[in-house]
Amino acid sequence: MKTYDFVIVGSGIAGLSFALKASQHGTVAIVTKRAGEESNTNYAQGGIACVTSDEDSFELHIKDTLESGAGLCDEAAVRTIITDGPARIRELVEIGVHFDERDVGDAGGRELDLGREGGHSKRRVLHARDVTGREIESALIRAVKANPDISFLENHTAVDLITTAKLGYVTGNRCVGLYALEERTGDVHTLRSDRIVLATGGCGKVYLYTTNPAVSTGDGVAMAWRAGATIANMEFIQFHPTCLYHPEARSFLISEAVRGEGGRLVDGAGREFAQKYHSRGALASRDFVARAIDAEMKRTGERCMFLDISHKPADFVRDRFPNIYENCLRFGIDITTQPIPVVPAAHYQCGGIKATVDGKTSLAGLFAIGEVACTGLHGANRLASNSLLEGIVMADRAMGFMLRDRPPGRADEFAHALPDWKRGGAVDVDEMVVIYHNWDEIRRLMWDYVGIVRTDKRLQRAATRLMNLQREVQEFYWNFRVTTDVLELRNLVTVAAIIVDSAVSRKESRGLHYTLDYPDMDDNRFLKDSLIWRT
Ligand code: SIN
Repeated sequence: MKTYDFVIVGSGIAGLSFALKASQHGTVAIVTKRAGEESNTNYAQGGIACVTSDEDSFELHIKDTLESGAGLCDEAAVRTIITDGPARIRELVEIGVHFDERDVGDAGGRELDLGREGGHSKRRVLHARDVTGREIESALIRAVKANPDISFLENHTAVDLITTAKLGYVTGNRCVGLYALEERTGDVHTLRSDRIVLATGGCGKVYLYTTNPAVSTGDGVAMAWRAGATIANMEFIQFHPTCLYHPEARSFLISEAVRGEGGRLVDGAGREFAQKYHSRGALASRDFVARAIDAEMKRTGERCMFLDISHKPADFVRDRFPNIYENCLRFGIDITTQPIPVVPAAHYQCGGIKATVDGKTSLAGLFAIGEVACTGLHGANRLASNSLLEGIVMADRAMGFMLRDRPPGRADEFAHALPDWKRGGAVDVDEMVVIYHNWDEIRRLMWDYVGIVRTDKRLQRAATRLMNLQREVQEFYWNFRVTTDVLELRNLVTVAAIIVDSAVSRKESRGLHYTLDYPDMDDNRFLKDSLIWRT
């Protein structure tokens, strides 16, 4: 058993930023499933929304966020996260993040080159060409790896949280540690800490088509649910309208910034259609644009729609979107002359572990920051590029909260030794095919039955199938030695069931949850979070 003042699970913008701050106050371990930089942050293209220009204001950013959230945002949380933003951006710049700038005036002046995205009334997205996430992630990874006070446990998968309730104590349940599987050796380590910070990102892999990397298997929500924490609003899964459609392209996002710079959404015959669905056209918020594309595909029977930026000067397109340009070219699409085939794909989890803006959850000792948390910033539909902002603000606020609440160095409230992981009679997995089959089945059924457009009947079908799959996966978990594949499958099926249960309970359409059975918003009954916890 190893003891740390802070244990963080996940290594995106929220986890790494928190680790850097925490290392000034105590011992820190980061547990992360693969190489450190393999996180959703690393793949973020558009950028980070923040008020930095005189033509913009906090009030406008707050208004846009609330509008996008379709009535479910927590206005106080929105205000806090947006107004804290500029100070956190300065810290990113201090550790070496470089955001794009442009020339202004004739006197050699420079200012931030701000991008525009759907739902934003102003240009306010700071970016590093179209690889903003990579720029931020690599600066944070450099800083963390240079910090001798942080134990960076790469290729370690969190198995489960350890709580006093699981240890048999009857009062005052709290989180006191976690088990982590070391991929290389197969050993399960016990990490003790009374400040466990989940920063595990989202769950895009629960769907067949997603813009997320393979690590996004909903681990944080699944573990927190098993430990008894409250989970909120998981029916609100954001589908990004424009993922590259090509048989060999795996989950490649075409940034919303392409539409922000004038990209047009067209059908196979080159006709624009977004205006039919919303007055803001291709720059409406994502729920509308994704549904518009889905509806046009269904109406025309075409397999994809197209995003066309070829009317813009080729030099501008190559310079502003070098990553998208190069990637599409690898698949034979020259975006300076041809429209890009696109389809919607699962992109962001707007719900998550119910948490305050300081990361506090319903379970003492457990904190959640970034995408895995549900603070009320996103409501029923996240405004583009608000997520990196939330991650970095929450990291800072969680640190502040913990220092005020119980400074490190004071005796732990729960200082007992924790039991080692028991392997019991578990043997090595004999049939990997079962894991892959179940994994595929979950992802396909979620895509077919719990996608952009839902119905009661489809949700019921999904719920029944998931119940069987959960039983099977649970047996698998108990009988076989844990591997990352088994753990991910277990988390995936749990999160899929939570999404379905949340969707079933919301008998209205709001933001990202759209059902043909209840096509209208019902403020009288559903202007509230959907909450789920394990009973
Ligand atoms: C994008 O570049 O379109 C993604 C930005 C986001 O999801 O916030």
